[in-house]
Amino acid sequence: MNTLDIVILAAGQGSRMKSTLPKVLHTIGGKPMLQHVIDSAKALENARIHIVIGHGAQQVETALSGQAVQFALQAEQLGTGHAVAQAMPSISDNGVVLVLYGDVPLTRPETMAELVKIAERGQFGLLTVNLADPTGYGRIVRSDAGDVVAIVEHKDASDAQRAITEVNTGILALPTALLREWIPQLSANNAQSEYYLTDIIAMAAEQGVRIQAIQPATEQEVQGVNNRLQQAELERWYQRRQAEALMLEGVSLADPARIDVRGEVSVGHDVAIDINVILEGNVVIGDNVSIEANCIIRDSVIGSGSHIKANSMLDEAVVADNCDIGPFARLRPGSHLANNAKIGNFVETKKANIGEGSKVNHLSYIGDAEVGADVNVGAGTITCNYDGINKSTTEIGDGAFIGSNTALVAPVKVGAGATIGAGSTITKEVQADQLAITRAKQTNLNNWQRPVKKS
Ligand code: UD1
Ligand code: CA
Repeated sequence: MNTLDIVILAAGQGSRMKSTLPKVLHTIGGKPMLQHVIDSAKALENARIHIVIGHGAQQVETALSGQAVQFALQAEQLGTGHAVAQAMPSISDNGVVLVLYGDVPLTRPETMAELVKIAERGQFGLLTVNLADPTGYGRIVRSDAGDVVAIVEHKDASDAQRAITEVNTGILALPTALLREWIPQLSANNAQSEYYLTDIIAMAAEQGVRIQAIQPATEQEVQGVNNRLQQAELERWYQRRQAEALMLEGVSLADPARIDVRGEVSVGHDVAIDINVILEGNVVIGDNVSIEANCIIRDSVIGSGSHIKANSMLDEAVVADNCDIGPFARLRPGSHLANNAKIGNFVETKKANIGEGSKVNHLSYIGDAEVGADVNVGAGTITCNYDGINKSTTEIGDGAFIGSNTALVAPVKVGAGATIGAGSTITKEVQADQLAITRAKQTNLNNWQRPVKKS
């Protein structure tokens, strides 16, 4: 079986980003650009991934720790040819090499596979694109017969060559044996005193190796990111694709330009999403879910028929079917709602199981709590789960009624069917069906004279 060694160039500084973060770690759709490239490369069969790192090498390695990739250090950035040379020692002898750029995040696996197929036939696969403004790019030089014979870098090109609009994307594939033969022959005898990988094109042409140029489906597939402007442009394009994919799966978007997807989303049918919604990480949305404006939903599951009202945040939350959340609700990690539960405005939950049909409608904090079914939690109820050192749990049984402005000082239990009078501070267990009330008795004084101001 042929091996496929994929070399991703990621050693450049990216100084135009004006950032302490290495360029390839800047994101598109919430994912580092280099990770996009790796994920697409991994979609190819038998791929072994080599990443050439240099600037911010430590940061890049740390960001990718635990992934099945090999790193090659390019201590000094002496050009793309020199970069590939650093990876050669760990590249297998047979098979083909595919070269990708860590700052060109959106190349599709299908395009990569097409180049690999050409290389597997013993030929040279080159990805080129026609640009209205080719300034700065390497130009594709073709013979009268139309064959690619060389790439000339912008800085080395004659005026006639600069008029060529077909440019090198930098992405290419070729048989490993040829690359191994040509890399040592590169010289830095050019305008930038760099070892240009692109010089191997002329070597291929001289040796009669057929060079087959293919084009990407869209320009954005080969769009590199050099500054934050280009990053933002590519981000918008990427988001538009995410929005289109959701709509084609049956989601109604109030405005496809005002949703951001930063992760993997799976959706049921008849989902409606209003404007300014952000979906992050892994989000699973059931049928007939409605999400109102300005919601942020991260790593959460939303069951069928549930309604997330405006300005709510869900983070590692699991919401079952037909629940009502918000407006202005905050479900923090470990919030698990059973069917028909209701979380109202200005309610925060964390590590809390809320049973079927239970309601926490207003201005409450429910953390480290086990709440049964059909519980009514009154406005302003707080689980006092933290004593400054330890977190403790509050348990509330089925059908309990917690009066407004109650403090439940954990660890504490409220039995099924129990009632807590409004304004109570509960520190001791309340048995099933008991009424607990800790409120001071009310005193009314007749004819109360308010203090008067001394003259
Ligand atoms: C390169 C191509 C050019 C092509 C253009 C497409 C060469 C000589 N030129 O030019 O034909 O049109 O890309 O964008 O290959 N890198 C390293 N180590 C280095 C140099 C570069 O890792 O020593 C990495 C960079 O981080 C970047 C990629 O290689 O991801 C391309 O480098 P860059 O300097 O942007 O190449 P260009 O001069 O733009
Ligand atoms: Ca570039």
